[in-house]
Amino acid sequence: MPTAVCPGSFDPVTYGHVDIVSRAAALFDKVIVAVLVNDAKRSFFSVDERIAMLSQATADMGGVEIGSFSGLLVDFCAEQRATTIVKGLRATGDFDYELQMAQMNANLSGVETVFLPTSPQWSFVSSSLVKEVARFGGDVSRLVPSYVLERLNHRLAE
Ligand code: PNS
Repeated sequence: MPTAVCPGSFDPVTYGHVDIVSRAAALFDKVIVAVLVNDAKRSFFSVDERIAMLSQATADMGGVEIGSFSGLLVDFCAEQRATTIVKGLRATGDFDYELQMAQMNANLSGVETVFLPTSPQWSFVSSSLVKEVARFGGDVSRLVPSYVLERLNHRLAE
């Protein structure tokens, strides 16, 4: 199978993301995890920090690279010669939005989107909830790798 792009904000990477990327890596020859650079949106971690955490999280996965992009995802896919976008679907709530983006991307360039159902143990996990729970002192140690937790706690203490 050819190259796939796994796009997202990854602010920060969670075990839910790790699950999707590792399963995508088993399906495609090459998977490019692509961090969206969005200057209009204030992020918790810088793009470099997010890339560093993703690099650690995927270090033991063959055929996985980390990149970043701004602008349209379909343009990044074309630059990388990637024919497929891989997205995780947690619950029905994700579906409407993801379907619309998949159809828009297909309409723009013909790129296909493949949805992988999130493994049940991570179906409630999102970067936003992880940050919110951590901000109020909740335990997120089972939801993110230890180095992500360390950076989260460090940033919250600043
Ligand atoms: O992790 P997220 O924030 O749900 O990821 C959303 C992402 C990055 C996949 C989406 O916002 C995106 O593709 N942005 C790039 C701009 C673009 O191509 N927009 C048109 C999408 S149809």
